[in-house]
Amino acid sequence: MAFLEVKNIRKTFGETAVLKGIDFTLEEGEVLSIIGSSGNGKTTLLRVLNFLERADQGKVLVDGEVIFDSDQTMDEKTIREKRLKLGMVFQNFNLFPQYTALENVALALNLREEEGLKGEKLNFFQKRAKRKEIKEKNSQIAMDILKKVGLEDKANLYPCALSGGQQQRVAIARAMALKPEILCFDEPTSALDPELTGEVLKVIKELKETSNITMIIVTHEMEFAKNISDKVLFMAEGKVEAFGSPQEIFEESNNPIVQAFLKRDWQGEQA
Ligand SMILES: Nc1ncnc2c1ncn2[C@@H]1O[C@H](COP(=O)(O)OP(=O)(O)OP(=O)(O)O)[C@@H](O)[C@H]1O
Ligand SMILES: [Mg+2]
Repeated sequence: MAFLEVKNIRKTFGETAVLKGIDFTLEEGEVLSIIGSSGNGKTTLLRVLNFLERADQGKVLVDGEVIFDSDQTMDEKTIREKRLKLGMVFQNFNLFPQYTALENVALALNLREEEGLKGEKLNFFQKRAKRKEIKEKNSQIAMDILKKVGLEDKANLYPCALSGGQQQRVAIARAMALKPEILCFDEPTSALDPELTGEVLKVIKELKETSNITMIIVTHEMEFAKNISDKVLFMAEGKVEAFGSPQEIFEESNNPIVQAFLKRDWQGEQA
C-alpha cells in the first residue's frame, strides 16, 4: 500500500470534463512534479486533493486512511480534520494583507487552538489568559518556521512590504505550520519575476532535504522538476499521459505527446 493513493478522480464543470479518471500513487517523503500544458486540469487536481473542489467520483487515501470517497458523505468536522493532512501553497501567495508575516503563519495555529477552547469551561479571565498563552506559544513556533525560510528579520512586516519571493516564502511557512503530511504547490514561482524564482525554489529544495514531507508540485520549471522530483506525472487533457521517474519522463519517454511538450518547453516557451 502506497502512502498516497489517488484513485479514478473525475471532475466535470458544466459540460466540460476536466479530470477524466486520475490514478497515481506516491510513497512517503517523495516529491511528485505535475507537468503539462495549460488548461488540462493540474490546478483542479490539486484543488480536489485539498478539498477546495469536490470530485464527482474517486477516492483518495493517505497512509491507508480514506480522506475522500465520492461514495461517502462526510460531515464538516470530519472534512476539516481530513483536509489538515494536506497543505497548499497557491500561485498568488494568498496571504492576508491585514496581518504581518508572523501573524499570517501563526493565524491558523491560533484558530485551531481557540476552537478547542470552546469546549472548556473557563471564565472570561481564564479564557483571556489562555488565549494570550496560545498566542505567545504560536508566535514562537511561527518565528521558528520563518527562520527556516530565511525570513526571521521580516516577521513583523506586512505582505505589501515584502517582495513576491518573500511573500511566497511566508506562504510556504504558513502551510508548513499546520504540519501537513503532504504539501502541495501550484506553480509556486509563476507569479514571480525571474530573478525571484530562485529563492523560492531553493526553499522548496531545502524543505525536501531537511524534512521527510511528501510534496506535490505543479510546475512549468522543467529543470527544477528534473532535479527535485522522485516522480513526474505528465497530464494531458485531464488524464495521466505518463508517470515515472524524471529519467523515464525527461530522458527516455517515447510518448510523442510528452516529447512534443518537452521540446516546446526547452525552447523557452511558456506552456
Ligand atoms: N470553477 C471552474 N468552473 C468552470 N470551469 C473551470 C473551473 N475551474 C477550472 N475550470 C476549467 O477546467 C480546465 C482546467 O483548468 P485548470 O486550472 O485545472 O488547468 P491547469 O492545468 O492548472 O492550467 P494552467 O497550466 O494554465 O494553470 C480549464 O478549461 C478551466 O477553464
Ligand atoms: Mg493551473
